[in-house]
Amino acid sequence: MSRPPYLRLHIRCETPGRVHANDIVASVVREHERGALPAGARMAPVRVLEHQLGVSKNTVQAAYDELAARGILAARSREGVFVADRREPLSVAAPLTATPPTLRSVECGLPERFTEADVHLSSVFVDPALLPHERVADCFRSVLGNPRRHALYDVQGYGPLRELIAQRLRLRGMNVETDDIIVTCGSQQALDIAARVIEPRAIATENPVYSLARGLFEMQGLRTVALPLDPFGPLDVEEWRRRLMAEPPGLLYAITSFQNPTGRSYSTTELETILRMSREIGFALLEDDWGSDMLSEADYRPTLRALGGEHVLYVNSFTKKLMPSLRIGFIAAHKSVAPTLLGAKRLAAVGGPTVVEAALCELLDRGYYDTHLARLQTELDLRYHACLESLRELMPEGVRWTLPGGGPILWLDVPRSVDLDQLAARLAEEGVRIQPRPRAFYGTPHLHGFPVGYAFTSPLRLRGALEALARELSRA
Ligand SMILES: Cc1ncc(COP(=O)(O)O)c(C=O)c1O
Repeated sequence: MSRPPYLRLHIRCETPGRVHANDIVASVVREHERGALPAGARMAPVRVLEHQLGVSKNTVQAAYDELAARGILAARSREGVFVADRREPLSVAAPLTATPPTLRSVECGLPERFTEADVHLSSVFVDPALLPHERVADCFRSVLGNPRRHALYDVQGYGPLRELIAQRLRLRGMNVETDDIIVTCGSQQALDIAARVIEPRAIATENPVYSLARGLFEMQGLRTVALPLDPFGPLDVEEWRRRLMAEPPGLLYAITSFQNPTGRSYSTTELETILRMSREIGFALLEDDWGSDMLSEADYRPTLRALGGEHVLYVNSFTKKLMPSLRIGFIAAHKSVAPTLLGAKRLAAVGGPTVVEAALCELLDRGYYDTHLARLQTELDLRYHACLESLRELMPEGVRWTLPGGGPILWLDVPRSVDLDQLAARLAEEGVRIQPRPRAFYGTPHLHGFPVGYAFTSPLRLRGALEALARELSRA
């Protein structure tokens, strides 16, 4: 059984700085007469007062003995010293309760609860079986064996890690220096710090968009300019231009490779068009590139940052590709804005987990990450093709899907006559979970479906889940 907290009292002393037993007695009597000592309440243990007041144990004990003799306190063996029960009945005071906080609501939906038994068909994660747990463990062991390296933290992120990240980005055609990198808690914190400080307070996003980015931007009070995205066709550049000119945002947020939730990637011409509009209309760019390095080096996608230079805020992370629980992401920002973003990070988080950052640094430095990434890219390609084969074979007429060419997810669009909630409920009974993502859309959704994640589920289980899906769709 846990013990109740003890009562903390102020002890006033006659001679400043020197406490006598009488001072303790007088202070307790005064509080007792004021009715501030509820019967049965535990008094501070002798050693606590001894330490706090800088007196001997005997002084405190003498005061407590005196108070016990006066019937105010009572010692219980092995339990401590308590306020004695009063003889006269007490008027029952109303219990103290604090005012509950008033909060404005935050729209973010419930996190997916992963179970071994179910197939989580819409997950954007990578199968944990494909992640290099042993090698990560090796790096942690090495880092923890050298505590001086990470005893303190650099709010901007572990220096040697930032250096390696900058080097990697330069290999991908981005002009980035170590000091341009701010390490963050996943890419989500990178989006968060950008959203906190951007002016004007409006953000343009794809519609549909990664729903937790939408929730974050709304929570930060940003107005939204929703830009329609059809994953089955080219960008509607004229519509984008019209909307951006009507309300020029502070930032345009774009997920340029394997967009969440559609799996769509931008063509080089589309990226160049966005860069041109940024220049002409006057808004900055926030590129969320969670995906381009899921493709092999030979295939890697162009990025806004590589094409458009150092004013593009570039975000990426190691969470999906390496291990979600490491929660390490980063933002690359031009020198003119990096200090403000860093200030926002400092105010929000003070610092970061340097131990984890140092372990990741070791993993990059030993070449483990690149070996892992190459294997992962091959496996994702295989899974992608296995998924396409199953879809072609199994899906009934009227169902269509995007062709991302790799990465973790595609978008599966079903006829409007299918009730998505009912479909989700029926599939759940068969152990298949889908997430239609209504929060990804602004206004009435122009798509009718859900993401299918092939990175998370082995081809065999995915096949079983798609068979169940095909049965339910045919029935619907
Ligand atoms: C497109 C996109 N960006 C950013 C994130 C945030 O990821 P993390 O904070 O784990 O890096 C996610 C998470 O799923 C995502 O899908």
